[in-house]
Amino acid sequence: MEKTVPASPTADPALRGRTLVLVGMMGAGKSSVGKRLAQALDLPFKDADDEIEKAAGRTISEIFAEHGEAEFREGERRVIARLLDDPPHVLATGGGAFVNDTIRALVKAKAVYIWLKADPEVLARRVGRKDNRPLLRGKDPRKVLTELLAVREPAYSQADLIIESNEGPHHHTVEAIIAALKALSEQNP
Ligand code: S3P
Repeated sequence: MEKTVPASPTADPALRGRTLVLVGMMGAGKSSVGKRLAQALDLPFKDADDEIEKAAGRTISEIFAEHGEAEFREGERRVIARLLDDPPHVLATGGGAFVNDTIRALVKAKAVYIWLKADPEVLARRVGRKDNRPLLRGKDPRKVLTELLAVREPAYSQADLIIESNEGPHHHTVEAIIAALKALSEQNP
């Protein structure tokens, strides 16, 4: 019997050549889901936060502590602008990147933009054990995440695709993204 292999959504004319950008709050699963999505689609994976750390030669915590959030945001803007000119890949961005109008406009123009949407309770549980996020340090994560989500939701909700990333294994989220990408490419032949 002949085997049918599902075409990669990025091989589709509507999506060809476009990087897939994952956005959403801290704890939404952008890096874990992004790595699995990249593997499933046979694309490279990049993490904007890692690239910012490489470019600065410092951790994100050190950048915030030594230079403040404004300088971090400026580095974030430069790094994401550069990554968007790389060949197609899956790109996980930091949760605050899309508050920046320039980054949002660049991503909308050059990439497919996917919001991994999760409830503050789920986000707080996921970030709970780590101490690597300066915006949460010494604070109640659920409260900060609820407030930040309220501010950021208007930007996130402009996404090409909105995918729930609540409880359940990451591979379900990956499958939901691939199905939504196929539907999107069928709508835009
Ligand atoms: C931030 C999210 C972090 C990192 C920085 C600021 C934010 O990335 O960029 O700590 O403003 O939401 P993750 O979303 O990958 O945790």
